[in-house]
Amino acid sequence: MRKEFPRLLSEGTLGPLTLRNRIVMPAMDQNNCTEDGLISNKTLQHYEDRAKGGVGLLILETSAVKWPYGATSKHQPSLSSDEVIPGLEKLAERIHKHGARIIVQACHHGRISGLDISRDVPVLVPSLPIPSFDTLGMVYNTTNEELMKMATLTGGKLPTFKPASAEQIEEIIEAFVSAASRIKKANLDGIEIHAAHGYLISTFLSKAWNKREDEWGGSIENRTRLLSKIVERIREECGSNFAIVVRIDGHEYGIKNGITVEEASNTAVIAEKAGADAIHVSAISSSGTGVGFTEGPLPWEKCQYSHLAKTVQSAVGIPVIAVGRIEPEDGEKLIAENSCEFVAMGRQLLADPELPNKLTNNSPEKIRPCINCFVCVAQNFWNGEPVCAVNARLGNYEAEIVLPQKSKNVVIVGGGPAGLECARVASSRGHKVILLEQMKRLGGTALFSSLTTPKNGELIKWFEAVLEDSQVEIRKGFLADKKSILSLNPDAVVIATGSKSSKSNIRGSDLPHVLSRDQLRGLLQGSKSLYRHENSKTSNFLLLQIDKKLGILKNIEKIRFLSKFWMPLGKRVTIIGGGLVGIELSHFLSERKRQVTVVDNKSVMAPEMAHPRRWRTLHEITSSNVELYNDVEVVEINKNSVICLKGMEEFEIFSDSVILAEGIEADKALNEKFADLEVETHVIGDAESIGYIEGAIRSGNKVGRLL
Ligand SMILES: Cc1cc2nc3c(=O)[nH]c(=O)nc-3n(C[C@H](O)[C@H](O)[C@H](O)COP(=O)(O)O)c2cc1C
Ligand code: SF4
Repeated sequence: MRKEFPRLLSEGTLGPLTLRNRIVMPAMDQNNCTEDGLISNKTLQHYEDRAKGGVGLLILETSAVKWPYGATSKHQPSLSSDEVIPGLEKLAERIHKHGARIIVQACHHGRISGLDISRDVPVLVPSLPIPSFDTLGMVYNTTNEELMKMATLTGGKLPTFKPASAEQIEEIIEAFVSAASRIKKANLDGIEIHAAHGYLISTFLSKAWNKREDEWGGSIENRTRLLSKIVERIREECGSNFAIVVRIDGHEYGIKNGITVEEASNTAVIAEKAGADAIHVSAISSSGTGVGFTEGPLPWEKCQYSHLAKTVQSAVGIPVIAVGRIEPEDGEKLIAENSCEFVAMGRQLLADPELPNKLTNNSPEKIRPCINCFVCVAQNFWNGEPVCAVNARLGNYEAEIVLPQKSKNVVIVGGGPAGLECARVASSRGHKVILLEQMKRLGGTALFSSLTTPKNGELIKWFEAVLEDSQVEIRKGFLADKKSILSLNPDAVVIATGSKSSKSNIRGSDLPHVLSRDQLRGLLQGSKSLYRHENSKTSNFLLLQIDKKLGILKNIEKIRFLSKFWMPLGKRVTIIGGGLVGIELSHFLSERKRQVTVVDNKSVMAPEMAHPRRWRTLHEITSSNVELYNDVEVVEINKNSVICLKGMEEFEIFSDSVILAEGIEADKALNEKFADLEVETHVIGDAESIGYIEGAIRSGNKVGRLL
């Protein structure tokens, strides 16, 4: 069914700007400026892709008004000298030629100024002492490798804090005004003042951080004075033909006396009076914990901050920009119910820069979905350049797709994300592609993982939609062997056969109540080759009968629904292996009323997940009573329990069912068989090395471009 987005796609007015639609790309650090904070070719390409993709307004990532002071990274854009103007000018030109508008997010990072910390410069806060928060919060569930990378940001140093003097406050106001006038000189369309996310202005707004007793602290008028002076002075300097947006926190989570939505609304009213054209409502957690990061600023749930935007919109006469995992259908609804006038979509536009054009062209099913994996933002913890699990072009702008010298016959074996991406790219370059998949459905293990992580299923649906419109010939239920492949006359063969479960050496792993990941998959999907299992013969027989009549098990959403009532597992389930697969499964099973325990021999569970997602997922599962045991060796599985060893202490976990999710390995069976195939051969995705969806798409894309 076609979906329509009349409000989202209608023109909108934001101060002096007329925007072609209501879709905004919020500021997202790309960290790809030069070492001096100047705009690079990569920066230009990144934003131009999105302007071309049809977005109404782009907001340049957070840029430092007093760079390198008050900055987080050398590679973020600087706004602190006239040297930056030519680069910004080029940016304006490249964006405007596609009909989009662009403003710049300007910031002083206050207590989070990594560059200051690394150079032993005290970071600015409104007052001392700073509120207490969990200073070790980010250490939990973080691997040593990640901690080391995070430490490089500040050279391993801890901050020293200094209350901003009245003189420094005046300097900072002037720095914002000079930055705005440079932005204007460069012909960009306006500024977004970053008054959110725990940076300097937001700490002045927050009662938790601002305990000053002078004109900059105390009442709401005093706490907002820094922000309102900046807005007023920029308006004086840059005039009415320059857009001023203010980004605020609609709520400050995880801290006593933090910003409330009522205060945020008052701040918005004051900013409006001072001359702001729009208010952008985000949120922050100041708890210092890892899981707090997904409360704010990087939301985990859909429309996580929409209620905050709605309250602020009801308080002001200027437009509110809502943000926070808003997908087009929700954006349309939010505008319809006056919760906001504009909708910012961040990760959705990293995943698919063409999202607005695809809505305009009435093909929303062709929008590549963001799978909420946090791979992109994980890079920001060590000032890396974000990459995207589903969009291999993000951060990889040198890798252009060019036409080959000659069109080839390409046979791809395996219809998981690696094979699908390779097919999509190779076919877009004019190769004749045949994709062979042994199952009746595309998606491979990503399809199975969509049982536990539905977003992965959306990605497979997206592949199906785009491949349907391509010249790729897909043959499902095709068991490939050398003969059948050669009969297709290939110039190149790509092996994308994915991974398989590693064989377990644990004593008792062959008992009837012990399942491997692949067997569980078979049980749930009714797959004849995988379902055989003593305990569930009867249920499987019944299930296969239902399957025959209704075809119910061909649909993963139906399996997910059915599994709420039927699950071929006992009440107490122990999962051996706390990697990505084990942790996702534990979540799924605990939602299905199983009492789940996960044991793993490593000290951090799910190291394959990007750490913000891991922080959130581990928090969610432990809150729903999944028990996690790290640093544990499994000694033996017996009929009723799993015997474990932690240090010198042996203990027993009573279990009705046991799932082995210890390890997966590349499925090399086919590459070995094809070693002497006398045609160009490539191995991609998990069949080459385990890299999950992100690695699969990257390697599929690379080979698709190089064939
Ligand atoms: C890679 C990445 C970098 C970000 N950098 C910034 C930033 O520079 N300034 C900012 O205010 N927010 C930043 N954010 C937050 C986004 O602007 C946005 O508020 C957040 O991603 C929620 O929107 P979404 O759910 O549509 O992605 C960043 C987010 C991501 C994913
Ligand atoms: S990396 Fe993951 S979360 Fe980030 S944009 Fe891509 S799919 Fe979305």
